[in-house]
Amino acid sequence: LKGITIAIDGPAAAGKSTIAKRIAKKLGYTYIDTGAMYRALTHKAIVQGINMDSDNELSDLLRQTEIVLLPVNDTQAILIDGEDCTEEIRSQSVTAGVSKVAAHGTVRKLMVEKQRDLAAGMGVVMDGRDIGTEVLPDAEVKIFMTASVDERAERRFIENTKRGIHTPLEELKQAIENRDKADSEREISPLKRAEDAILVDTTSMSIEEVVDEIVEIAEKRM
Ligand code: C5P
Repeated sequence: LKGITIAIDGPAAAGKSTIAKRIAKKLGYTYIDTGAMYRALTHKAIVQGINMDSDNELSDLLRQTEIVLLPVNDTQAILIDGEDCTEEIRSQSVTAGVSKVAAHGTVRKLMVEKQRDLAAGMGVVMDGRDIGTEVLPDAEVKIFMTASVDERAERRFIENTKRGIHTPLEELKQAIENRDKADSEREISPLKRAEDAILVDTTSMSIEEVVDEIVEIAEKRM
């Protein structure tokens, strides 16, 4: 039994990765965080001083980069050319630059190829912005996960506080709104709900409730 494919898309900080990881664990599937892949490229571009307006330079860089998503206990480590960059790809500078990097056509084409390869032949939960629309249009389950921007900013604030990061709430909210706007308005594969995606608004739901709802949907389609 090879398992089905579950695509989860939605705006920034909607809880996609937290939920996707737990669903993958429950079902014994592989979790693939596509945002981490765009973040990895952005991080390397910053370190190397690559022009983030250049699709050519970025896609050349991507061709020379090995990005590995490594399952570690209940989380996932990101290796860039063999080096653990799990923390670095969550930095403010990467978060601020990633939407620009992710808007380029060749960069996206290469990333989508990698993502389809990673998902081939097994049960996966993949999260991102264009999974149901572009990467895995034949996914058995498509979820579009949202929450109000206030709720998302608050969740990120609490998560940051636990990690010792103290960005003001208002600033987090602004950064989330900016990223959603850039991701929704870009020309290639913008963030949008696939026609056949099920909308899940998590604003007043607990993590467990969201996980259970999606697992229930998935089990009906196995
Ligand atoms: O999911 P996360 O917030 O880590 O994604 C970081 C950024 O990567 C997004 O804001 C978006 O610009 C880009 N992204 C994308 N397509 C995906 C996943 C992420 O364009 N499938």
